[in-house]
Amino acid sequence: MSVSIRPLHPVFVGEVDGVDCRKALTREEVAAIDEGMSQYAVLVFRDQDITDPQQIAFTRHFGELENYNTPGHIRSRRDQRLGPGIADFSNLDKDGSIMSAEDRVWFFKLGDRLWHSDSSFRPIPAKYSLLSARALPSWGANTEFADMRAAYDALDDRTKAEVEELICEHSLIYSREAIGFTDLTQEEIAAFQPVRQRLVRTHPASGRKSLFLASHAGAIVGWTIPEARMFLRDLTEFATQREFVYSHAWRPHDLVMWDNRSTMHRARRFDRNEIRDVRRTTLGGDAPTVEQAV
Ligand SMILES: [Fe+2]
Repeated sequence: MSVSIRPLHPVFVGEVDGVDCRKALTREEVAAIDEGMSQYAVLVFRDQDITDPQQIAFTRHFGELENYNTPGHIRSRRDQRLGPGIADFSNLDKDGSIMSAEDRVWFFKLGDRLWHSDSSFRPIPAKYSLLSARALPSWGANTEFADMRAAYDALDDRTKAEVEELICEHSLIYSREAIGFTDLTQEEIAAFQPVRQRLVRTHPASGRKSLFLASHAGAIVGWTIPEARMFLRDLTEFATQREFVYSHAWRPHDLVMWDNRSTMHRARRFDRNEIRDVRRTTLGGDAPTVEQAV
């Protein structure tokens, strides 16, 4: 069976048919999916009942797993439920119980409900993320995606010229501060030092430009903080208008793959007394965005 993709949204997002994510892909299948990613930016694979090792193996068809020694979250490895190579985005603690509403890990997760691009707070931000739905709550918990290429294309010429060369500073400190979570240790503050990212990126495969925004962005080099924050807020509001947004209603065993270089996403509310078990694998990017000429 060959890979086929049908659009799920007027400007991006495709649903893939003809792929079994448990199996090794042929070179042609990898190429078709990669091509689909550069066109659609978000791909949905239905009915993929996969294990963690299968998800990791599937992910590695498309690049190298992101691997940082500095924490991107505050749970140490010994406190984690899952093995290496896969990140736990559930509301469960390491024993499989629903985590306390006062758990710091839960506060960190709540920050993911702000629009963001994965690992934009790292020196080399992520390429693709793949999220697998293993158990879902009965209500809510959609993931929304916004197409940052379509948003860029829709900017007026003056704003396009204004953003072209801007460099932003991204940090987990800024996005957590935005939800009022400022209780960080000295070690966390040191690990979350701001990194620089271009505001406009050019996709290496499609050649399309996009806005590289995230709630992690808290400063623009050479701008005052209030001016920068208001401009980033305005741009984010513009870029997440309904016409650029797809809301994914999860079904069990959905696997959704998105390109962090050309989209933003956010988690949506659900009943925290119900289990949501979703697991993410992430591919590292190629180079710091500041080295990329627009
Ligand atoms: Fe995310």
